[in-house]
Amino acid sequence: MNTARTITRRVRGLPTSDGAGVKLTRVIGQPALEMLDPFLLLDAFGSERGADYIGGFPDHPHRGFETVTYMLAGRMRHRDNHGNSGLLVPGGAQWMTAGSGLIHSEMPEQEDGEMRGFQLWVNLPARDKMRAPRYQDIAPEQIPEIEPAPGARVRVIAGELAGAHGPVSGIATRPLFLDVALAAGAALDVPLPAGHSGFAYVFEGAGVTLGDSTLGLNELGVLGPGDGVRLAAGGEATRLILVAGQPLDEPVAKYGPFVMNTREQIMQAVEDFRAGRF
Ligand code: FE2
Repeated sequence: MNTARTITRRVRGLPTSDGAGVKLTRVIGQPALEMLDPFLLLDAFGSERGADYIGGFPDHPHRGFETVTYMLAGRMRHRDNHGNSGLLVPGGAQWMTAGSGLIHSEMPEQEDGEMRGFQLWVNLPARDKMRAPRYQDIAPEQIPEIEPAPGARVRVIAGELAGAHGPVSGIATRPLFLDVALAAGAALDVPLPAGHSGFAYVFEGAGVTLGDSTLGLNELGVLGPGDGVRLAAGGEATRLILVAGQPLDEPVAKYGPFVMNTREQIMQAVEDFRAGRF
């Protein structure tokens, strides 16, 4: 690593609700951070009360981008209008490339107890927005868990670290998605392609030091330029997600669950949805 990235911007999530009243924290896709090309949205959800999530996300469409769900606790069932279904379990992930479109539901498969995880929206390049939908359902045991430095335990969901490859493949923005747990005093260097956008979000413990800046619990740090990041836990253990991807640098036209390049394409999406062409 020649130049360690530092934090250029820090953001706290906005408590909100989506779907049928699911309480969540919107970290990307809110006024403080509208997007971080190619990332359109990051939601963190976590509750031990069934009432906070029981409504789930009933049938809704998507077109033009990818939804990534990473579960830490709890079970969610997804089902779409093309006959696909699957169960998301703790430690598992789903990378759904919506492409030209589908209608699906994401519903809790439990009435109470802890439900915790993330949903990330990743944009698709113009050439792939109308491709056929694709699912990558990833069981917990398919995700390599490595210890690339003493006291650093990393699950590689997408991309590569220390020779371990994440199971997610064939994604246009060549993403890195890591779940990093650091013991007190542990440090870890992670190489990142110089041109990629990146962020870290701390979800457990006291926080992490990145170069000369610190990031607290429930804070997202946007990474500045450089070819890697140096993470260090303080006197307390911490856990974060570290995510990076190639920016698309294309126009973004967004309307709810449709993310295209032009307003005309958005109108077409609404029309196709209403006409039952998803
Ligand atoms: Fe969805």
